[in-house]
Amino acid sequence: MIGIICAMDQELEEVLKLMKDTEKETRYNFNFFVGTINNKACCAVKCGVGKVNSAICTQTLLLIYKPNFILNIGVAGALKENVNISDVVIGENVIQHDFDVSAFPKRQKGEISGIDLVKIPCSKWLTQKIIQSATKIKNISIHQGTILTGDQFVNSSEKLFELRKEFDGIACEMEAGSIGHVCYYNGVDFAIIRSISDRADKKSSIDFESFIKTSSKNSAAILDEFTKSFRD
Ligand code: ADE
Repeated sequence: MIGIICAMDQELEEVLKLMKDTEKETRYNFNFFVGTINNKACCAVKCGVGKVNSAICTQTLLLIYKPNFILNIGVAGALKENVNISDVVIGENVIQHDFDVSAFPKRQKGEISGIDLVKIPCSKWLTQKIIQSATKIKNISIHQGTILTGDQFVNSSEKLFELRKEFDGIACEMEAGSIGHVCYYNGVDFAIIRSISDRADKKSSIDFESFIKTSSKNSAAILDEFTKSFRD
């Protein structure tokens, strides 16, 4: 089974449009949608915004449905000049940019206590298959790199430049780092598919509202292609 986690209704909606024989099961305040996408068993869920919501949801999904791997799907803010609205970003790894115990010697910014990693790796084989699927889709530009997660909607050039300088990420969002964190703990593969809704600048909240639907469609289109070619 493929576990699919989206943060918001608009993102999940595009995933559910692909799903057949869908049944809703409510567990621990989350609505899990169990069905098939291109004949592959899937369980899709809206986790809510931010690291704690997404961590609780990921652990719940893993314990109840025991998916073979998890895909985090949705939208993100661009952090690089060449990454544009509606482009797709695929994570190579993910950093929790707001995890900071660097006041202590030998601790780097973004280093997660306990697992002692700054960069949580995304699954290589999964990411490779997603890229192969994404390149089959016309008119979508794909970027691969580091995704930055934090409990903050980035909406200023100052913050954007700070993040770029500190971590060299290609996009920012608010859940992938904690989903990856939970997957890492549980030894479960995960990957990130996000499409750009805004440029994380001062008009990011306006762009986000304008583009969340079309960008969510782009991410779902890649899931569609991936599930067509994926053999379980
Ligand atoms: N998700 C989409 N755009 C974002 C932004 N600018 N900051 C954080 N998360 C986002």
